[in-house]
Order: sequence, then structure tokens, then C-alpha cells
Amino acid sequence: MQARRVVESVDWVGAIDWDRRLFDALIPLPDGTSYNAYLVRGSSGTALLDTVDPACAQILSARLAHAGAEHIDFLVAHHAEQDHSGAIPLVLAAHPETTVLATEKGKTMLVDHLGVPAERIRAVRDGERLNLGGLTLEFLHFPWVHWPETMVTWLPERRILFTCDLFGSHLATSELFAGEDAGVLLGAKRYYAEIMMPFRNLIEKRLERLTGLRPAYIAPSHGPIYERPEFILEAYREWLTAPPHNLIVVPYLSMHASTRRMVEVFVEACIRRGMRVEQFDLTDPDLGKLAMLLVDAASIVIGTPVVLGGPHPKAAYAAYLANLLRPKARFLSVLGSYGWGGKMVEQLAAMIPNLKLEVLPPVLCKGLPGADDCESLEALAATFAERHARLTTVGIPS
Ligand code: FEO
Repeated sequence: MQARRVVESVDWVGAIDWDRRLFDALIPLPDGTSYNAYLVRGSSGTALLDTVDPACAQILSARLAHAGAEHIDFLVAHHAEQDHSGAIPLVLAAHPETTVLATEKGKTMLVDHLGVPAERIRAVRDGERLNLGGLTLEFLHFPWVHWPETMVTWLPERRILFTCDLFGSHLATSELFAGEDAGVLLGAKRYYAEIMMPFRNLIEKRLERLTGLRPAYIAPSHGPIYERPEFILEAYREWLTAPPHNLIVVPYLSMHASTRRMVEVFVEACIRRGMRVEQFDLTDPDLGKLAMLLVDAASIVIGTPVVLGGPHPKAAYAAYLANLLRPKARFLSVLGSYGWGGKMVEQLAAMIPNLKLEVLPPVLCKGLPGADDCESLEALAATFAERHARLTTVGIPS
């Protein structure tokens, strides 16, 4: 386990978690992840920026030993979540000389969540600078990416911005740098969709402060380092601010093929009218993929049969998740089949209070869809086409 040089005086000492497949008991990790920690050494002081998930603590220790980091003056905790701060107690036990630096809120959370002794933590102010001897760490509070205590660190002498979760990607790779790899961008988009999208308005407002620094490197705490920051900054501008695409996402499931038949008729009708459609089966879904589709979609149409008087529980879960993720979508509808009645549409509508959507009239049918139902689905597709035409779209992504 060796440290890897990022630039002069800055080494990567993190861990690659090739085999992890689930995060927060919720988020699928098809490509694993990494926990990046960085060692910054000035002439008069050494700082460790973040740690790793506790399961990988021995890897961090081995890399620190390889780097010859016998003395660590400061441990910068950008974010109190366990995957970055979970190994802090172990580092502090091995290094009695180390002081943890965090925001005031971060200090509280490190004590509450990880049992870090309060006397080992010093709160830093927004904009506060720390001189390590020829190298300076400047701490910039950046709350709600994605917890309230978060901050980023700017190292002006090397023009590196350490952003912890922000701009990260759940991607296990041997590459230290991202280049302009499409796979990295896909991982970053998945990460944005799952973690950052609910906070997109706050991130957008604060992004200028970071871009104004004109970093030469962006070093997140998941995935590779961006040595051409515009690669990820351009992507974030698009995800955060561009109008939604001419795209309808149709998360659906079907128990006895009636709802599936409705979805097929609707999807064909949308394609004929020039809309891009993603038909997404909720039976055994990769919810990260659904989240990625919601980054760009102008519309969501939920397809579900009625089960015990309401939506199928898996459709309800998808609606609940979409509500939490707060995507840009502007229009919503529901289609589905029922046996003898129920309040499916009302129940689904009550699950998405965060979404500022125009709800278009749903199409429900009893049992198998007949000719009249198919006409209603054609009419619904025509209404979506008309709504999409009103949007200033940025085209269909490749
Ligand atoms: Fe990578 Fe919010 O932790």
C-alpha cells in the first residue's frame, strides 16, 4: 500500500473499495467506490485531508506509513459522514499530536456521530487560512453538499480544490486522474443524481465562489481527481441549470400485463411524436439509473396497477424517491389498470409534494385496455408533446 503523488507536497493516501455494492443501505454501487484522503506537507506543518471508511482504515494507515507521515499536525474533516470521517478516531489514537479541523457544525456532528473527543477538534471559520509553511489551506464553508456541516479546502499554491463529496463519483478505478473519460462522467452523473440533486438550487448559488478560484485540480473524496476542472464544472452547470430535455421517463410495473400494454401504447405514441422515452421497469430496478434519468427528464409518467386500493408499493417507492430527489421535471401523469376501483392517483399525488409539476390527466382502465383507452393514451401523448414543445429544450443527449 503506497501513497501516490498528486503534485509536489500533496499525496493521495486513500482506499479503493472495488467490491462495495451498496451505500447507505440504499444507493447501488455498480462500479464500487473510493475514499480519497490527501496528505499535504508544508515546511512547518502536515495536514491529512479526510480519512476513509472504517472498513479501510488499515489501508489508510499503510499508505500514511509509506508516505513517512509520522507526525500529522492537522486532520481536516470536510464532512462528518462515516465514509470520510469514520477512521478519525483511529488516526487520533495513533497520533496524539493531531488536531481535527472542521466547521462549528462539523465539530458537533463528529462528537455526536463518531465519538470524537471535543477537545481534539477546533472549529474553523469560513475563509480562515492555515499556514503549513509555504503552503496554505483555506477553508470555505459550503453547507448542504449534502449535509449541513460541509466545507471544502483550497490550496492556492498548488491551485487544488478539495471538495469532498461535491463533484465526486462512486467509481473504483486504478486511475488517479479522470482525464476526460466518459465512464468517469457517467459515474459523476450517477453520484450527482443520487446525492447532490436534492440540493441543486443551493449548489448553483454557491458554485461561482468555487469556479472563481480557477482551480487547476478538483480533488473530490470519491473517484478520480479532475486535472481539467472544466470537464466536471461544465457537466455540473448542465445538470444544475440547463432546461429539462425532451425526455419522458416512464417508471412502471405490471402484474398481469394490462398496465404493460398501456405503457407500450403510450411509449409508441410518444416516440411517434418526436419525444425521447425511457421505459423503466420497477420490478427489480437499479434506482441509481432511474435517478440519472430524472436529472434530464421534462416529464415523468408512472405506470402502475392498483393494488389493495392504491399504487403498487414499488411504484409508490419510486414516487417517494423522486420526491426526495427533487428533479427538474415539469410534467407528470399516471397510467394503469385496476380491477374494481381505488384511489391510486390521489395517493401518488400526495407522495410528491416537493415537485413543482403540472399533473396531466391520468389514464386508468378496468382490466385490459380497449380501443377507447388506447385513444386516451394517444391523447395523453399528444398533450405531453404540446407541453414539451413549449419548453426551451437543449436537445436529446447522446
Ligand atoms: Fe461520501 Fe456524504 O459521504
